[in-house]
Amino acid sequence: MNIYRIRGGEALKGEVDISGAKNAALPILAATILTDETITLENVPKVNDTVIMVETLEKLGSSVEYLDDNTLRINTSAIDKYEVKNPNIKKIRASYYFAGALLGRYRQAVVPLPGGCNIGGRGLDMHEKGFEALGASVKITASDIVVDGTEAELSGTRIYMDKVSVGATINIMLAAVLTPGKTIIEGAAKEPHVVDVANFINGIGGHISGAGTDRIRITGVQSLRGGTYAVIPDQIEAGTFMMAAAITHGDITVKNVIPTHLESISSKLKEIGCKIQESDDWVRVIGPAGRLKRTQVKTLPYPGFPTDMQPQISVALGLADGISTVVESIFDNRFMYVNELKKMGCNITVDESTTAYIDGVEYYQGANMTSPDLRAGAALVLAALAAKGGSDIDGIEYIERGYENFDKKLRQLGADIQKMEV
Ligand code: EPZ
Repeated sequence: MNIYRIRGGEALKGEVDISGAKNAALPILAATILTDETITLENVPKVNDTVIMVETLEKLGSSVEYLDDNTLRINTSAIDKYEVKNPNIKKIRASYYFAGALLGRYRQAVVPLPGGCNIGGRGLDMHEKGFEALGASVKITASDIVVDGTEAELSGTRIYMDKVSVGATINIMLAAVLTPGKTIIEGAAKEPHVVDVANFINGIGGHISGAGTDRIRITGVQSLRGGTYAVIPDQIEAGTFMMAAAITHGDITVKNVIPTHLESISSKLKEIGCKIQESDDWVRVIGPAGRLKRTQVKTLPYPGFPTDMQPQISVALGLADGISTVVESIFDNRFMYVNELKKMGCNITVDESTTAYIDGVEYYQGANMTSPDLRAGAALVLAALAAKGGSDIDGIEYIERGYENFDKKLRQLGADIQKMEV
């Protein structure tokens, strides 16, 4: 088992290159199924989740070549099965994108039910509703999502989403790109990765407009071409390093980012006492010399404050002067890290799984902790970096699902963090 061994107390300083966005790369990898021609994808983060997606593409019959760690050449024309069989696929949530992509291209799919972080009830009803509206039949069995669009011709339609879902919005786009007629998704998610998937598909001949607004229009085309596409930078990786500057009273510049994607995070960091500077493709965060200030946070769909940054900002507020509240409005089980954080002396209580009350302390004390999920694990690492004394964190395979070279990047900023096998 691997752990991170961390000795806290260093102010993290310097520049860090942000990798490609995991949550954009995952659906774009699945979207390569929509064309017979060769796709070259650049800026794909080499993290466990993308590696599992690649493995699965190969098991379906695709050829995938890593030109370097972050560049892949993919050709899916030899796919000859529509049933996803990869024991590892259950580890990730994004497996559901194979349902949309295979349905779109081959009109049928059998995909194991998604796994991924246990951060609350994560339904599939919006995915189901979208596929059915296009004319497919959907069965959710004890183990699989079974989607069949071979009985009748799929056709474009207007779909009203009952909740804002990133995954369902993208999945319906994947299923609709090659479906005749016009599909309109009302109440679509507006996250940057939704826009990135649309840009990728349009770049190879798709016809999607309105991505980034709550109404997306997809006009079906007969086929897509090949091409080269670079995935956008990871909003949440960037936000995590920005929060590291605040928590350790450091000075970090995140490079190769899109600052507009980071606005809700920058704005909270200003509220809690950080200075922010930014240019076209970088943001610099200078943590205050004294204590952070208290604030209130509510997670919301984009452009609101991201749920994927909730644990990290809670760790920062645990060190702020005064009482802060953090409301989680997207997932119902995203405070799993709270008991771990309490071991460090954090004064945090959670009410009905939705609201954390945090009475800031002056410092955290090192502790041995277990990472409960991806973002919570990253947040515990930040807490340990700011703590007095040493911490061991296990469960780091969760963290490595989404952060490329996390320990290495932190060391470059001056952190005392080692990955060790125990
Ligand atoms: C994506 O999950 C991300 N995962 C998550 O990132 C992220 O937290 C989330 O979007 C919100 O931004 C991937 O992109 C692989 P949703 P997703 O569908 O698509 C409910 C990370 O740390 N819902 O937008 O699964 C759902 O239960 C991960 O990188 C339904 O009820 O999230 C949740 O409460 C964790 N029925 C809310 O909607 C549905 O059919 C939002 O979920 C779909 C969703």
